[in-house]
Amino acid sequence: MDSLIIRPLAPREPLPMHLLLLADPSIDMVLSYIDQSHTFIAEQNGKVAGVLVLQPQGNEAEIMNVAVEESLQGKGIGKRLVEFAINLAKQQSIHQLIVYTGNSTLPALALYKRCGFKTESIDKGYFLRNYPEPIFENGMQCTDRIKLRLELKAPA
Ligand SMILES: CC(C)(COP(=O)(O)OP(=O)(O)OC[C@H]1O[C@@H](n2cnc3c(N)ncnc32)[C@H](O)[C@@H]1OP(=O)(O)O)[C@@H](O)C(=O)NCCC(=O)NCCS
Repeated sequence: MDSLIIRPLAPREPLPMHLLLLADPSIDMVLSYIDQSHTFIAEQNGKVAGVLVLQPQGNEAEIMNVAVEESLQGKGIGKRLVEFAINLAKQQSIHQLIVYTGNSTLPALALYKRCGFKTESIDKGYFLRNYPEPIFENGMQCTDRIKLRLELKAPA
């Protein structure tokens, strides 16, 4: 883990689409937000190990995508990426971070909760209404979209 660096995607560097699609099964969805967002690469020993996509929205920012190479999951890289997002947001005076995930995306839910995010709302049936094919993961169907929020600054 010592050699892990997190850096912005270089101007002409290809998107790590195989990673982005681990977090979001729709390429159209990924392409719909990537140009309005900032993409960061976690690099270990010179190789892409993970990706983070952040989209500023006024005084809050949304984590649009976070993903780690399957062979490197469970080693703390996802947490490093979310902590990077938290620190960057604080430096840029962004007061809140939000993220949406699925009811069956258990590693992501664990990651965000461990980083202090609280569940804000649940949109029941979101994935049934918005994705053409059923999504199954971790032995269950992904049906509901969960919104989580991390407050970075106590209200005055
Ligand atoms: C979600 C994801 C980014 C997590 O990355 P990771 O590098 O494997 O996660 P970490 O090793 O940093 O783990 C972060 C925390 O979550 C916990 N966690 C991770 N996977 C878990 C799992 N399957 N079950 C329970 N807890 C889990 C870890 O124990 C850790 O907590 P700790 O620091 O208190 O021990 C990774 O699983 C992934 O790329 N998944 C596919 C893409 C995806 O679903 N992205 C999210 C879309 S919203």
